[in-house]
Amino acid sequence: MSKQFDVVVIGGGPGGYIAAIRAAQLGMNVACIDEWKNDKGGPAPGGTCTNVGCIPSKALLQSSEHFEHANKHFADHGITATGVKMDVSKMVARKDSVVKQNNDGILYLFKKNKVSFFHGRGSFVKAAADGGYEIKVAGATEETLVGKQIIIATGSNARALPGAEFDEVNILSNDGALRIGAVPKKLALIGSGVIGLEMGSVWRRLGAEVTVLEGLPTFLGAVDEQIAKEAKKAFDKQGLKIELGVKVGEIKNSKKGVSIAYTNSKGEAQTLDADKLIISIGRVPNTIGLNAESVGLQLDERGAIAVDGDCKTNLPGVWAVGDVVRGPMLAHKAEEEGVAVAERMAGQHGHVNFNTIPWVIYTSPEIAWVGRTEQQLKADGVKYKAGTFPFLANGRARALGDTTGMVKFLADAVTDEILGVHMVGPQVSELIAEAVVAMEFKASAEDIARICHAHPSLSEATKEAALAVDKRTLNF
Ligand code: FAD
Ligand code: NAI
Repeated sequence: MSKQFDVVVIGGGPGGYIAAIRAAQLGMNVACIDEWKNDKGGPAPGGTCTNVGCIPSKALLQSSEHFEHANKHFADHGITATGVKMDVSKMVARKDSVVKQNNDGILYLFKKNKVSFFHGRGSFVKAAADGGYEIKVAGATEETLVGKQIIIATGSNARALPGAEFDEVNILSNDGALRIGAVPKKLALIGSGVIGLEMGSVWRRLGAEVTVLEGLPTFLGAVDEQIAKEAKKAFDKQGLKIELGVKVGEIKNSKKGVSIAYTNSKGEAQTLDADKLIISIGRVPNTIGLNAESVGLQLDERGAIAVDGDCKTNLPGVWAVGDVVRGPMLAHKAEEEGVAVAERMAGQHGHVNFNTIPWVIYTSPEIAWVGRTEQQLKADGVKYKAGTFPFLANGRARALGDTTGMVKFLADAVTDEILGVHMVGPQVSELIAEAVVAMEFKASAEDIARICHAHPSLSEATKEAALAVDKRTLNF
């Protein structure tokens, strides 16, 4: 006998579990299926984000940053810290316990919201006789659910490089990169995108000699050029070696490590030998095992599930959200889509504003932005005014001992509406939220400039950058 639900969500990452909770809040009878297993074979909902993405990477970034502070910056404060050592296995165990707290938190939230959780792989069987779809759950036991509506939130997987398959011992995806058991002497990364920079930073801080090979000739092409340049300067100073414009050739994997043949930007043949290689060249949408063909679910040319602006697929009553559809592969984008779909199912007006989705790269300095970059505004032929303010002139940044970077505002030349805010510096992952709120409310740069900001705080750099749009900074 199959179990009947108003909604069956396939995938329990940030897209799926949040959609399930919101649908339940709106009075629907909801099931969520997720196949992720913890090391004991039990359920570990939360998807890539919780298990091998956002959360564990930030845990390792925090531990490695403490280590770097103790070694390099405590002395500035008059603190003597000798013999500082990193116990990598303890660091990794702490990361694992942070992950588990998040897994358990989601299971608790399912109970609290009366979402029925099923541990196993969900796949389409067929359209149900009286509407909706039959979904098979293959787990410890096999069950069949019928959902009047289905939300697919099956996420993404690391993109592999042909000829260098992930063995998670020497050639690592994000999964293996978060489980390295000892600091490698030499670490190579291919791809200087978000994962390359975050993971490269972790292991560099712990003492690895890190080289990142990037195919494109520009560094962080999606980031505002001025901000990317400032970040690159800081990474160079830290000793994170980034080679741009390379063409990766043959990769040899042996017991001793990995040898990467490549051509550098001058066209010279090079070889990079490393103990470990992390491949971080983007991610691919995941529809493995969904049996989407059986019901005629359409994919696009990238293998993502084809959806319209409302996350509707080509099948009536079937929706898809998060990494498995178009758009940025970010946890908060997946969550917003999950909420919007649940609200649309309930007849409400769910909405996701793609123009105000923030991006954060959690390196040190952090990089954060929302809206359009200066190069995009130029390409779009928009007349704009720019204002920047350096953390060097911010009292709180000086007190923190971290004055790298700046805040940059881009506002419409005529209306003064904020078109983009770009930041590189201390704790900008938190500062960017103010810019997101401002842009969501269509604020002008002057609106931010007129708001009282606490002193001394890093947020004063945001106010000053807004003042800089009108060329009237007070502290610079
Ligand atoms: P996922 O989180 O991938 O979840 C999909 C879930 O569905 C998984 O649990 C999977 O097991 C399950 N599943 C798949 N198929 C089936 C099936 N047939 N049946 C049952 N279950 C199934 N984003 C940020 O915003 N901030 C960050 O700091 C950040 N850091 C990251 C760091 C790393 C190293 C990586 C790899 C990613 C990071 N991301 C970050 C991206 C973020 O993890 C993803 O955008 C987000 O997880 C996407 O959510 P999702 O729900 O679409 O998919
Ligand atoms: P990415 O898209 O950020 O970067 C991939 C990089 O690899 C690009 O610079 C690209 O030019 C380069 N590249 C591609 N093919 C190459 C090749 N053959 N040789 C050399 N270089 C090559 O992808 P990444 O870092 O794998 O991360 C995947 C996604 O996960 C991100 O785009 C982001 O959506 C998400 N993520 C988000 C984080 C955050 O929000 N802080 C942290 C980590 C990941």
